[in-house]
Amino acid sequence: MNDHARAGAPYLTGEGLLARTGGRELKRVVFGAEAIDTRVREMGAEITAHYGPDADVLILGLLKGSFIFLSDLVRHIARPLHVDFIVASSYGAGTTSSGDVKLLYDPTAPIEGRHIVLVEDIVDSGNTINRLASALEGRSPASIELCTLLHKHIAEDLTLPPRWVGFDAPTEFLVGYGLDHAEDFRHLPFVASI
Ligand code: IMP
Ligand code: MG
Repeated sequence: MNDHARAGAPYLTGEGLLARTGGRELKRVVFGAEAIDTRVREMGAEITAHYGPDADVLILGLLKGSFIFLSDLVRHIARPLHVDFIVASSYGAGTTSSGDVKLLYDPTAPIEGRHIVLVEDIVDSGNTINRLASALEGRSPASIELCTLLHKHIAEDLTLPPRWVGFDAPTEFLVGYGLDHAEDFRHLPFVASI
């Protein structure tokens, strides 16, 4: 076992060791797996109902945080669609936004004339979304909407307010269901605070 795998207190459930907490403790489960499943199904139905039958819909997931949410969500959107991803980075290994958003991977899918649904894990300061929204607007999509699992409601001037929000989030640092702290905890089937 390397040092990283050994670090921190083991996080145990009935199924055994799920994660090591790197010195941090999981405080509480904020959104459980069943509540998430129910809400994601509803959001899929809402997105399905929003677009006309002929709309050319591109679901654009922000990696890495949205990977679990997106994969559950698209299975509840009952219409033709395409999926691509964007990689942006703003946090490094800390728990506060640096405000410096880097685009590390640009989608290969064309944007022009298409209905874009940007899928985020969480809207915090809004820096990531503001930066991405303006970059994407420049490529003449038919429309851009934001769908986020979690919304902290602390962003002051969001240029693209989310149309679909899974849950209003407390202003704590959250992990699980795709969200990480220094790459730990993404695989947890629920959202917890640390
Ligand atoms: P923003 O640019 O400050 O809105 O932050 C957006 C990104 O920061 C999200 O896509 C997340 O990857 C990350 N982030 C913000 N808050 C949290 C949190 O509470 N837990 C884990 N990641 C977070
Ligand atoms: Mg992250």
